[in-house]
Amino acid sequence: AGEGATIDGKAVADQIRKEISASVALMKGKHGQVPGLAVVIVGERKDSQTYVRMKRRACAEVGFRSFDCDLPGDSTQQEVLDAVAKFNANPHVHGILVQLPLPKHIDEEAVLAAISVDKDVDGFHPLNIGKLAMKGREPLFTPCTPAGCLELLDRIGADLRGKRAVVVGRSNIVGMPVAMLLLKRNATVTICHSASVDMASIVREADVVVAAAGQAQMIKGSWIKPGAIIIDVGTNPIDDASRKLGYRLVGDADFDSCKKVAGAITAVPGGVGPMTIALLLKNTLTSAERFYE
Ligand code: GUN
Repeated sequence: AGEGATIDGKAVADQIRKEISASVALMKGKHGQVPGLAVVIVGERKDSQTYVRMKRRACAEVGFRSFDCDLPGDSTQQEVLDAVAKFNANPHVHGILVQLPLPKHIDEEAVLAAISVDKDVDGFHPLNIGKLAMKGREPLFTPCTPAGCLELLDRIGADLRGKRAVVVGRSNIVGMPVAMLLLKRNATVTICHSASVDMASIVREADVVVAAAGQAQMIKGSWIKPGAIIIDVGTNPIDDASRKLGYRLVGDADFDSCKKVAGAITAVPGGVGPMTIALLLKNTLTSAERFYE
């Protein structure tokens, strides 16, 4: 049996980041301004802190201004809303991202709705999500991880029209919006979730599988139609005593068995993850360009 190609998201993301750096230099010359991204984090979750650190570093690397707001985990709803309002009013801030999940006592829906719709670079404002879900309408911003998945499919030349796409997972951040994007590309889309009966046979129909369930190695090679494309959004830590930190990150697909059957599969890490950050930068650049041009 042959082996599918590994899709290198890191390489694609690096290319996008180079293009963004060049656009920032142009904007600086033309308008004397650079894109600004505000990243708000509430609380001390280690995974969220890691993601936020990577986002802020990525901003600096492409020449953006980064505006930090680190609030303690016991902040009130009003304090979070005040931070958002301050960035809404700041003309140097073109994008506002509130890292999710928020602490349980904070109303996520209210916070996301408070972000100015034209600074909503995560694409989670209800107006942007609504347009994403509707035929013939386009949001101002598309959620970054789903957009990164589609960008990878485009870069490998995947033709989605009329194809069977199966999304495993229905989160607001990935599963639901990526399904909407695949539908907009005229794929026939099925969403599987924790209550789905006989998920393996549903996934077996798929020409494209997007794995976004947050379950380590749950999708096996035996579930995959030969030649299918697998986009693996999972980043799950599993114990590995041979590693310095005692764990390693694996996807929602069982990489070794899936790679033997698939036409192509994204690496984990180094697949969708770097694309999420590249698309966040791209959304922020787009926002700044709308402000100045
Ligand atoms: N938490 C997990 N993924 C994301 C994301 O793309 N954006 C935000 N704001 N929070 C997240």
